[in-house]
Amino acid sequence: MDITMCEKEEQLLCNRPIGVFDSGVGGLTVAREIMRQLPNERIVYFGDTARVPYGNKSRETIIKFSRQIVRFLQTQQVKAIVVACNSASAYALEVLEKEVDIPIIGVVKSGAMSAIQATRNGKIGVIATEATIGSGIYNRYIQAIDSNTVVLGKACPLFVPLVEEGLWEDPVTDEIAKRYLTELIDVGIDTLILGCTHYPLIRSTVGKTMGPDVTLVNPAYETAHELKRMLQDMGLESGHRPGLGTELYRFFVSDAADKFQKFANSILTYGILSAKVINIEEF
Ligand code: DGL
Repeated sequence: MDITMCEKEEQLLCNRPIGVFDSGVGGLTVAREIMRQLPNERIVYFGDTARVPYGNKSRETIIKFSRQIVRFLQTQQVKAIVVACNSASAYALEVLEKEVDIPIIGVVKSGAMSAIQATRNGKIGVIATEATIGSGIYNRYIQAIDSNTVVLGKACPLFVPLVEEGLWEDPVTDEIAKRYLTELIDVGIDTLILGCTHYPLIRSTVGKTMGPDVTLVNPAYETAHELKRMLQDMGLESGHRPGLGTELYRFFVSDAADKFQKFANSILTYGILSAKVINIEEF
């Protein structure tokens, strides 16, 4: 009798969604990868569109915002949380890990691991927001694994608005990429981490600028992989795709749902019907 109850309970836990959050639309590149690699998992996505960008905010503010979002996601009965935002992973993840009792992962560690595996000459570049570069987090993770590796960080703040304006392949973006990336080319990095949620969307521009000998690392890919491993290890993986009538993906934002929806529909392979606005300050 007890065992049956337990099994039922576990079944329910496995079927709960994964909470994924970001400062706005960028984390959809991570959600997209989770959808690809874990097609049976339900997702509750929150994009903080009212308070984006996080990349130029202080540690304290990013922690405060992230805590509110985690509290909101917990009201959605999530079984695990993915901090899809690099800036929030850099500043808030270690704090959140101590405060929540469900598994929580960020994107930085996965990106760092992939880069170490990819580099041949031990020179890794990181492009990201000012917050992520300022935190030195990629450097810290990489050095902890291999202290001989040289890590060069470069903040590229203009990439975020360029991506949000849809200028993914545009002469303006080519020009800005040259200005930002030339110093990384000059020092001879052979691996470059796309350390911001938006950058995978301009991967071809960055790739063209860096040249064919530089490996580009998208932390979203390895994060989805790590999530899968973690859910399997903890017995939390959803064994089957939710049945008809169950919403697989739900989207929440703190402002401008229409704009979010339009962006989401330009990068996700299926159409999202709605994104609900919530008041995140209440959490
Ligand atoms: N999502 C952010 C990150 O990955 C980029 C956008 C922002 O600055 O909020 O760091």
